[in-house]
Amino acid sequence: MEKFIINGGNKLSGKIKVTGAKNHALKLIPAAILSEQVSIIKNVPEIEDVIKMFELVEALGGKVKKLKPGTYSIDPSTINKTAIPYDLGRRLRTSVMFIAPLLARFGEVKIPHPGGCMIGKRPIDMFIEGFKQLGARVVQEKDYYHLTAKSGLKGSKYIFRRVSVTVTEAMIMAASLAKGKTELVFAACEPEISSLADYLNKRGAKIKGAGTHAVEIEGVKELKGGEMTCIPDRIECGTFAIMGALLSDDLKITNCNPAHLEVFWVYLKKAGVNFEIGKDYVHILKRKGALQAIPDVITHEYPGLVSDLQAPLTVLLTQANGLSMVHETIFEGRLFYTDMLNRMGADIILCDPHRVVINGPSKLYGREIESPDLRAGIALLIAAMIAKGESKMANIYQIDRGYANIEQRLKKLGADIKRIDE
Ligand code: EPU
Repeated sequence: MEKFIINGGNKLSGKIKVTGAKNHALKLIPAAILSEQVSIIKNVPEIEDVIKMFELVEALGGKVKKLKPGTYSIDPSTINKTAIPYDLGRRLRTSVMFIAPLLARFGEVKIPHPGGCMIGKRPIDMFIEGFKQLGARVVQEKDYYHLTAKSGLKGSKYIFRRVSVTVTEAMIMAASLAKGKTELVFAACEPEISSLADYLNKRGAKIKGAGTHAVEIEGVKELKGGEMTCIPDRIECGTFAIMGALLSDDLKITNCNPAHLEVFWVYLKKAGVNFEIGKDYVHILKRKGALQAIPDVITHEYPGLVSDLQAPLTVLLTQANGLSMVHETIFEGRLFYTDMLNRMGADIILCDPHRVVINGPSKLYGREIESPDLRAGIALLIAAMIAKGESKMANIYQIDRGYANIEQRLKKLGADIKRIDE
């Protein structure tokens, strides 16, 4: 079992490049199998979740080729299975993203209830409702959902009762090959969604309004193959910015798109972080004073404060003067890592599953910790990097799921992190 040994306190400086977005790559891979032609995806992050998605394509009979680091081709013409293997499906939440292309192209799919990060109940009821609205029949069997649409999907109107990123993406994919017009009301607006729609439109789809709450899709008979580049990972960008705010007077984050994090930058400014933003970089500079508490942090669907940066921001607030309140509105299990921060010396009260109060600043101390999920994991890694003494972190697979080669990249900036096998 691999672990990180972190010696806290090292300052960071230099440049760090942001990779392609995990949450874009994880949708472009299944989107590639909406067509029978080859697709090429560039700027793919080399992370565990992506590797698992490629394994899934291969398990279905498709062919995946690494053309060079970060560039992959997917040949979906040989796909001959429509059942997601139980083990792979159970390990990965985004296995659910294969429902739309398989159902649209083959009229059938069998999928286990997807696994993934334990950050809440994470039901798939809205996926099921959405596909039913497009005419699919859904039968729940012992270990699988069995969806069929033997005479094809039919365009319809689907009204989201709450905003969902992956359900929006799944509906866009399915409706692209449905007969007639689909209207999505109260769709999610994340930049990964509009980029997915751009990709599909280039291949022949007819999608309008992606990136707003109202999306219209005119179904087409087939989609071509094509080339697509993953947009920069906005969560990596924000994560590195917080590392810089805590540990650097001069850290340049490059190959990013700061425009995808506008509200996040407002919070960082309010906390007293000093930085400069360019079109494709963020430069963290020497702070002019102490970090300040923020009493009203609230996560929100895009373009609000992204939930995936809530845990790193909470770590920052343990070092800020005064009382902060963080309200996590999206997931009901995404604050329990604060218990581990308290073990390291933080003073955080969990008011209820959605809210914490942070009394800062607190000195943090190295401890034996464990990464509960991807974003809490990276937050605890940041905590260990600012703590006094040595921390040992278990379950780092969770971090590898979303951050490529993280300890090597942070070591280059000056961090003291070792990967050991124990
Ligand atoms: N929800 C339902 N029913 C459904 C689907 C979702 O009740 O059928 C609920 C969820 O449980 C949640 C809320 O709706 O409470 C919103 O979740 P959403 O569906 O938007 O989340 P997601 O699509 O599963 C994506 C990202 C997450 C990110 C959230 C919110 C991907 C692969 N995942 O998840 O990223 O936190 O949107 O922005 O795109 C991560 O990268 O670590 C991560 C968890």
